[in-house]
Amino acid sequence: MKKIVKIIGIVLGSILALLAGFCIYVAISGVPTYDPPTISNLKVDVTASRIARGEAIAQIQCMSCHADKDNRVTGKYLAEVPDLFGKLYSKNITQDTEKGIGNWTDGELIYFLRTGVRRDGSYAPVMPQYPNMADEDIRSVVAWLRSDRFPVQASKQEPQASELSLISKVLTHTLMKPLPYPQTLVASPDSNDTIALGKYTADAIGDCYSCHSGDLIDQDKVHPSTSKGYYGGGIEMVGDGGKKVITANLTFDQETGIAKTYTKEQFIRAVRMGVRPDGSILNYPMEPKLSLSDREVGAIYDYLKTVPKIRNNVAQKNAELQLARK
Ligand code: HEC
Ligand code: HEC
Repeated sequence: MKKIVKIIGIVLGSILALLAGFCIYVAISGVPTYDPPTISNLKVDVTASRIARGEAIAQIQCMSCHADKDNRVTGKYLAEVPDLFGKLYSKNITQDTEKGIGNWTDGELIYFLRTGVRRDGSYAPVMPQYPNMADEDIRSVVAWLRSDRFPVQASKQEPQASELSLISKVLTHTLMKPLPYPQTLVASPDSNDTIALGKYTADAIGDCYSCHSGDLIDQDKVHPSTSKGYYGGGIEMVGDGGKKVITANLTFDQETGIAKTYTKEQFIRAVRMGVRPDGSILNYPMEPKLSLSDREVGAIYDYLKTVPKIRNNVAQKNAELQLARK
C-alpha cells in the first residue's frame, strides 16, 4: 500500500514539476518564432475597383483593431480583449517605412494575412488570419493599404507593445498556431449562389463565427464550420466602459436563436446599422458593418438558416449578468 502511495506521489510530483518547468519556459521564451518563410515576390496591381473593395473589407476588419481616434491605422489598445489574455495593442499599418508597413512587400503582407507569420518568422497570435479570403479580396486589401486613402497615409505614431499574459503565451505554445499558406488559388464564391455568398461573407470576410461561436480560442480557422458551437454564441466580451456583453446565438433555433427576433430585413438593419428590431442599439464590439451590402448581409441570413441549430439561451445569460451587476 505504502509503495503505491509513494509511486503515485512520485508520478504526480513529476507531472507538476514538468508543468511548472513548461510554464517557466513559456514565461521566459514568450511567443514562439518559426523558420523565416519563403515568400513569393508577387506584385498587386492597384486598381480603383480593388481599392474600393479593399476598403470595404478593411472597414469591417482592419479598421476596428488598427484605427486610432483620428481614423488612421496607427494601431491602438484592444480594450475588448478580456484581461485574462493580457494588455494587447495592435500595430501601425500605415505606409510609414519605419513605424508602419511601408517596406513590406505585397507578398509579405499576403503571407502574413494568411498565416500570421512575418518575414522574419515571428508570429502574431492576436491578429486574425484570413485563410479563406479569396485571392482577389486579399489583393484588394493590399491595394487599399498601398492607396492614397486617408487612413493608410504614412504616420509615425506608434502604440505600446503588447503584454501577453502567461495564459496567452501558453496558448501560443499549444492551441494558437500559424496557419499553412494555401497552395492553390482561393476562389471567390459564385455570387449567384446566395448560400455560398452568405457563408463566404460570414466566415471569410466578416469573421462573424470568431465571436459568435462557443469559444474564443478553440476554433478551426481553416474549416470554420467545424468550430465548437459554430454560430451558437455565448462568448463573454468586454464592451464600452468595461461593461460585459455576450455574443448572440445566430443559429435559427426557435427558442434561443435569432429565428424569432429577426426577419431578413431586420437582420440586415441590425448588422449594417447596429440597431435591433425593438430600436435598441447593439453594444461594442458588435460594430455596424455598413460597408457590407444589403445583398451580402441578406445572404448571411439565408446561410445561417442552413447552419445546425444550437440551443443556447444568451438572453438568459444576459439577464443574469444584469442581476449580478446590481
Ligand atoms: C482583432 C484585431 C485585429 C484585426 C481585425 C486586424 N488586426 Fe492586424 N494586428 C492586430 C494585432 C494585435 C497586431 C500585432 C500583433 C503582434 O504584435 O504580435 C496586428 C499586426 C498586424 C500587422 C503586422 C504589423 C507589424 O509591424 O508587425 C499587419 C501587417 C496587420 N496587422 C494588418 C492587418 C490588416 C490588413 C487587417 C485587415 C484585413 C488586420 N490587420 C486586422 C490586430 C488585428
Ligand atoms: C468582435 C466580435 C463580433 C464580431 C466579429 C461579430 N459580432 Fe455580432 N455581436 C457581437 C456581440 C458582443 C453581440 C451582442 C451585442 C449586445 O448584446 O449588445 C453581437 C450581436 C449581434 C447581433 C444581434 C443579435 C441580438 O441579440 O439581437 C447580430 C444579428 C449579429 N451580432 C450578427 C453578426 C454578423 C452577421 C457578424 C459578421 C458580419 C457579426 N455579428 C460579427 C460580437 C461580434
